[in-house]
Amino acid sequence: MMANPDDHGLLTDDADENDSFPFPFNQAALLTALNNLRDAADLHQLRTQAAALVQEIANPMGMLIPDQIGETVELTVGYLRGEIDQIAATLTLERARYYIDRLVRAIGEERRQPFSDINLNRWKEREYDDLITDSLWQIDRRDSTGAHTADYWGNFVPQIPNQIMRRYTRRGEWVIDLFAGLGTSLIEGQRLGRNTLGIELQPTVAARARALIEQEPNPYAVVREVLDGDSATYNLAEALAQHGQRSAQLLMLHPPYFDIIRFSDDSRDLSNAASVDQFLEMLGRVVEHAAPLLDKGRFMALVIGDKYARGDWIPLGFLAMQAVLQRGFVLKSIVVKNVEGTAGKRARRELWRYRALVGGFYVFKHEYLFLFRKQ
Ligand SMILES: C[S@@+](CC[C@H](N)C(=O)[O-])C[C@H]1O[C@@H](n2cnc3c(N)ncnc32)[C@H](O)[C@@H]1O
Repeated sequence: MMANPDDHGLLTDDADENDSFPFPFNQAALLTALNNLRDAADLHQLRTQAAALVQEIANPMGMLIPDQIGETVELTVGYLRGEIDQIAATLTLERARYYIDRLVRAIGEERRQPFSDINLNRWKEREYDDLITDSLWQIDRRDSTGAHTADYWGNFVPQIPNQIMRRYTRRGEWVIDLFAGLGTSLIEGQRLGRNTLGIELQPTVAARARALIEQEPNPYAVVREVLDGDSATYNLAEALAQHGQRSAQLLMLHPPYFDIIRFSDDSRDLSNAASVDQFLEMLGRVVEHAAPLLDKGRFMALVIGDKYARGDWIPLGFLAMQAVLQRGFVLKSIVVKNVEGTAGKRARRELWRYRALVGGFYVFKHEYLFLFRKQ
């Protein structure tokens, strides 16, 4: 039976002494109900829903039953009833939503994984709407705001480091990008309040990255340092120690995809490996060198694509994944991400389609994001 929506006293008259005992509510169900209340189209609907919610709270067969799988939150019925009464008694939707948000925050306190700032009690909130949780990423338009530029062969779509840092780091933590390029991860890091160190072999590229990073506002005053050098040997412990740090909380690797793009003439450049085996060996050395600096239980992201050699598909991504798995990491996810050609490549699409039909192959339209966790 529904309570009268205009009765702002709701269940106050029925309150009994049990109201003051903490009870383990099903946290997810409670938050869903509050989020639904927040979505009410007008005050009448809000009050109707609030009345139903108060009844639900008092119903021991409803959301009071602790969920065997989900989390519970200890609250008194009286506290919840008082809060919902206050929400229903407001004269504007805006004010009601303010109280709902406050209640959701109170319920959601400290429901976070140690590796992320995502408030799991508010996972339906708008700020998380764009966080991807599926393994197929279709990113049609690269973020070109601020200092981001597509003006470097094979640089990140900025949404990649953005998604990874938001899922796998907390504000103020330390991220090392071992193949920094033009510093896409560092720009994202400074937007998100993560400290970043980037290693880049080519000094001219590193200098360009520094210039771009300087163009971008640094609202959280984080460190974002591009270091010239070889990721397989760079003294990362020393670089962290310069900032009073002993470890990092996320490693990002976006190496050359073997020889698809020759980045430099430097023999230490992974794009100059003599063979696939040597490429994997060089990548493995970078991982071995950096892994001790990563906190246990934290994540490493590897972005890489496959390649063709003399008409045969070389599964570079899976080979690189195996090389990492041999070095003390476990696999958490494999993401497949779309790859859109540049304007120049698009003009040759028809030619590639013809070649694919003749040669019996498929034209690459994807790359991989492998997520590993250090054991
Ligand atoms: C695919 S790009 C990375 C692009 C970067 N994610 C960005 O958004 O600009 C690979 C980069 O790794 C660099 N590189 C290759 N071998 C390296 C090594 N041994 N140590 C450090 N950097 C290396 C290349 O110069 C190139 O800039």
